[in-house]
Amino acid sequence: MRTAIFPGSFDPFTIGHLDIVERGLQLFDRVVIGIGRNSMKGETFPLAFRVESLKDYFKSEERVAVDVYDGLTVDFARMHGAKFLLRGVRTVQDFEYEQAMAEANRQLDGIETVLLYARPEHAYISSSLVRELYSYNRDVSRLVPCRLP
Ligand code: PNS
Repeated sequence: MRTAIFPGSFDPFTIGHLDIVERGLQLFDRVVIGIGRNSMKGETFPLAFRVESLKDYFKSEERVAVDVYDGLTVDFARMHGAKFLLRGVRTVQDFEYEQAMAEANRQLDGIETVLLYARPEHAYISSSLVRELYSYNRDVSRLVPCRLP
């Protein structure tokens, strides 16, 4: 069984992330959405909300699991028996960051990273954009699959 970890802070999970999960399911038997804590970032949406809303969203998709982790993504991947990480890229800046992360994770534990290009219509959507709009009370419902609190 080929399992991929889809790691991120998902603060919040966007329709761009959803698209990567759905496309990842065409490549892998199972996708584990790993909500990691990025030590450099604070959080806007409570961790419990992010986990519960995603578990609820994917409750009828048995090939998708949602889990939380602290520490290194490679350790989380090993715990789930996964040899692959799945990530989406939107921009050149994303690509450079992903390249460094992919190399670090490969050197740490032989974990391969599979990158999928974001659909052009999703390329402008990021969690930080959603957070910004949300902070100004703008309607972001078209950008996120799970209703925000
Ligand atoms: O895309 P994001 O939201 O910035 O996700 C960041 C995340 C959680 C994937 C990243 O911070 C991460 O991998 N954290 C765990 C620590 C780790 O494994 N770092 C990479 C090797 S140094």
